[in-house]
Order: sequence, then structure tokens, then C-alpha cells
Amino acid sequence: MSSEVESGTIDPTLEQENLSLEKYRKFLPSEVQREIWSNKFLLFVENLSVSFDGFKAVDIPHFGIKHGELRVIIGPNGAGKTTFCDLVSGKTLPSSGKVYYDGKNISQMDESDIALMGIGRKFQTPTVFDSLSTYENLLLALPGNQHWKHNLLKRESSEEKNQILEILEKVNLSDCRDMPAKSLSHGQRQWLAISALIISKPKLLLVDEPAAGLTDLETERTADLLLELAEEHTLVVIEHDMDFVRRLGQKVTVLNEGKVLAEGSLEEMETNEEVMEAYLGR
Ligand SMILES: Nc1ncnc2c1ncn2[C@@H]1O[C@H](COP(=O)(O)OP(=O)(O)O)[C@@H](O)[C@H]1O
Ligand SMILES: [Mg+2]
Repeated sequence: MSSEVESGTIDPTLEQENLSLEKYRKFLPSEVQREIWSNKFLLFVENLSVSFDGFKAVDIPHFGIKHGELRVIIGPNGAGKTTFCDLVSGKTLPSSGKVYYDGKNISQMDESDIALMGIGRKFQTPTVFDSLSTYENLLLALPGNQHWKHNLLKRESSEEKNQILEILEKVNLSDCRDMPAKSLSHGQRQWLAISALIISKPKLLLVDEPAAGLTDLETERTADLLLELAEEHTLVVIEHDMDFVRRLGQKVTVLNEGKVLAEGSLEEMETNEEVMEAYLGR
């Protein structure tokens, strides 16, 4: 395969499952490259870096997530996982490099515009309105309605109502529909935060540490929920909890010191010396 790459004889329209972004880089002019990457990857980054006071928190030459993939990102504390999500979601501007989503360069775009393009983000601490009920939280999250007062006061259409009820059912919160969010368990709050994301049907979901602080049962349910969501969305899931990552059973990318250290199955990562060193070295 690699000799074909070097001689540049690959038909660019062929599905090249085993070609990494790095190999594409080597033999294709950038315009063609981008088109191929966009067909193959919903999200890819090119020489992406961000520095804080001279410290490079993220420094990734190339990295991509395929359409429909569920990718898990792991890595020790401070590896740059959350910062990577910040860069993709437009919360932080890169110092250099580009982020392509759905074929478009979004690296200089506004956070709210990026969200409208279909990238949903769940933060480490779930953002939920405590005094509102579970149902009202989702009413507020309905797409195109950033004016929350308007959204709460107006009557939802029966279609919107059904959509909310369907999501509540999916995330196991139907019984908590009229309860104020503050009385939900930590796990239920996570599921509500995820529900608020998926109601606008984003193509790409960035989920930062969904299992942090959950009970074992909640952790299992969250993994199952994400697997279910993976049928309709492309997902990037950041997580520390190895049982959770094992339950997801997907390809894992290890970030360390802002760089991609390794990629493969969790089992491969657990027997990778460099990866183990990165974890133990902290
Ligand atoms: N806004 C910021 N200003 C300065 N340093 C930051 C900022 N955001 C993140 N960092 C630093 O970047 C590094 C990566 O952080 P982070 O992405 O939160 O790691 P992770 O999520 O993998 O634990 C850390 O050393 C952190 O202190
Ligand atoms: Mg983090």
C-alpha cells in the first residue's frame, strides 16, 4: 500500500480504509487532499496547535474522525483533551492550523455558528438549568430558539412535544419529566445535558468525561446510551474511566502533552509501553 502511495497512483475516489491522513499528505496536492479528507472524515485537523503563555496545550499535525465513527480520546490529566474540544467547538481559537468539519474550514468561526452547523458539545460539568423541570430544560434546548423567555412562554407544537418525550424515553428520564433538574441524580443530569444536545440533531457530538462522578450502574447506562446515539451521530467521547471505555469497545486515541501518542483498541493501548508510561509518569 505504501509504495502505491508514494508513486501517487491511487485513485482518489477509492475508499482507502488504511490510509492515514499522514500518507494522504505526502502525495496529494492540498485541494485534492481536502476533498478526499472531507469525503472520508467528518472532522479533521491540520497542523492544529494552541499555546498558552508559550506552552503548547495542543499540537496535532493531522487527525481525523470518520463519518459515523464513535472515537474515544483518553490521556492523562492535562493532556489537552478538553482543549482539543475547545478548538473544535470554537471556544478557543487555534494559534495555528485548521479544523475542517463537513468539508469546511471552521477554525476561525464563532462558537455559536459552529454549534449551528451541527457540532454539539457536552462540557465536563453538565450545563443544566436547576430550577427548570427536565421537560422545560429540553424545551429551552429546541433548535433555533436561543431566546429562552420566548421559548418557555410560547406553546410548543405537538411535533416538538413528541420529540422531547421521545428523547426523555431514550435517556430513561420519562419518569422525571416534571421534576426540577436540581432533584436529579448526577447521572440523570448528565443524560439531561446529553438530551439537550441531541434535540437539535447535531452531526458531531463532543462529549467530555460523561462518566465522571457516576455510579457503576449510571456509568454502564451512559456507555449504552452513547452507543445508541452512535447509530445516528458521529461522536467523540473523552473519558478517564477505563471500564467505561472498555464497555464502549471502540477505537481509542491517546493524547499526551498535546500530541497524539497512539491509536488502536483499548487492549492495544494497555499493552503499549509509551502509553502506560504517560499515565504512570503523572
Ligand atoms: N485557557 C487556558 N489558559 C491557560 N492554560 C490552559 C487553558 N486551557 C487549558 N490550559 C492548559 O492546557 C493543558 C491541557 O489542559 P486540558 O485540555 O484541560 O487537559 P485535559 O482535558 O486533557 O485534562 C493544561 O496544562 C492546562 O492547564
Ligand atoms: Mg479535561
